[in-house]
Amino acid sequence: MSDSTLTYSQPGAEEWQHTLSEFQQRATQWLHGLEHHPVATLNATLPQSPLAAQGAGSEITIKKVHSELVPQMSASRGPRYWGFVTGGATPVATYADWLVALLDQNVSKDGDSIASMVERQAIQWLVELFNLPASFTGLCTTGATASNFLAAVTARQFAGTQQGIDVAKQGMAGLDIEIFSACPHASMIKTLGLAGFGQNNITQVKTSKDSEAMSPQDLAIKLKQSTAKSKIVISSAATVTGTSFDDLQQISALCLQHRAWLHVDAAFGIFARLLPDMEQNTAGIEQADSITLDGHKWLNVPYDCGMFLTRHQSLLKDSCHVAAPYLVQSGSEPDFMSLGMENSRRFRALPVWMTLHAYGKSGIRSWVEKNCRQAQLLAQFIAASTQWKLVYPCNLNVVLFRPLDDEVDCDSVLRHINARGKVFFSPGKWQGQAIIRAAFSNWQTEDSDVAIAIKELQTMAADL
Ligand SMILES: Cc1ncc(COP(=O)(O)O)c(C=O)c1O
Repeated sequence: MSDSTLTYSQPGAEEWQHTLSEFQQRATQWLHGLEHHPVATLNATLPQSPLAAQGAGSEITIKKVHSELVPQMSASRGPRYWGFVTGGATPVATYADWLVALLDQNVSKDGDSIASMVERQAIQWLVELFNLPASFTGLCTTGATASNFLAAVTARQFAGTQQGIDVAKQGMAGLDIEIFSACPHASMIKTLGLAGFGQNNITQVKTSKDSEAMSPQDLAIKLKQSTAKSKIVISSAATVTGTSFDDLQQISALCLQHRAWLHVDAAFGIFARLLPDMEQNTAGIEQADSITLDGHKWLNVPYDCGMFLTRHQSLLKDSCHVAAPYLVQSGSEPDFMSLGMENSRRFRALPVWMTLHAYGKSGIRSWVEKNCRQAQLLAQFIAASTQWKLVYPCNLNVVLFRPLDDEVDCDSVLRHINARGKVFFSPGKWQGQAIIRAAFSNWQTEDSDVAIAIKELQTMAADL
């Protein structure tokens, strides 16, 4: 077909009416079917096809998506997807995310809508939710990786101020920095590379015995030995595998003594602050210079949502602001485009705001409390099993296990379980050995889901 014969009709009111009502119907179907949808599609296929010059139209496209793509999606928003650390969007968070698309705001600057105010309030509410000092401010990011990146560049700017270099303007030449960490998340290592430090440039601090937590004693020795003009300490609360919490009281005191920047990656561990018996795990985080949080984990908002908090907004702004005549500052508060990586920004704060407003501290606490208890249920079954081995005690929401027989290939067992479609786990390593990780962070998970998983493990055990 030559280009001159191609047609296109501008979407009008009828298309809106059709797409919106289709959406309501299809969404309801998907939610009703979720219980029986396989938790994962391990062999997804998408036939190769060239771009069509002539669009198929919305009706055909919607039908194609629902017949060919949607069936191959994972049930990651569902109650038995326990890989990584994954939340599932609640009704209010899902509504909020649709609204984000409907409203299509660009939360880069104040001055044309209320959106930036909503984001500031969402951040303030999170600071209150986690009982952090009001001196913390921040912004929503695309996830914890992006927040860790902002931590790296803000710490870099801090080091620059210690050494008389404006890193954002002049670059890193001549900057003398040493970075200390014990068990940083892979995303933190990635961002150290992105920020120009180099992924390998980490002084390895020992972990405390039988844990992934940083040894404060070893940190004290290494900080004392360091001759670097500036120091950055990267802590975890908690680590993604062993859910170990660094002792932030001791570590923050050391950072103060050595004028070191303290960043805490608390992507999901911060939620332990909501439980009275676990609140102590993060004591000392109030002294951090920056904190990473994740929304699409235990806050159960849709993907594409993390948060970065810092007590040094001016350093963050110095790192991210660039002057441009058409982007002048719009109010007394720094615009979000001057505090983060993107200039144009999705209104990802709305699902956070609506979640906090709708479910409150009590709702979010109940998810965390329930998930931790459910992790214990699974851990207890595994600990008592004659076919499975609990490789580390469960002390938050993650269960680490493997087949009891060391000869059995853990990765192929994991693939087999996931392929059965009832429950999804992800792989990990514990002291060099392959393991299976089950992470509980979904608001919908019920004890009956744990019972289904236990049945799956019993069935699998019979085949081992
Ligand atoms: C402690 C920690 N930090 C960072 C990340 C990266 O998060 P994201 O995938 O949202 O970028 C994760 C993800 O599991 C995590 O557990």
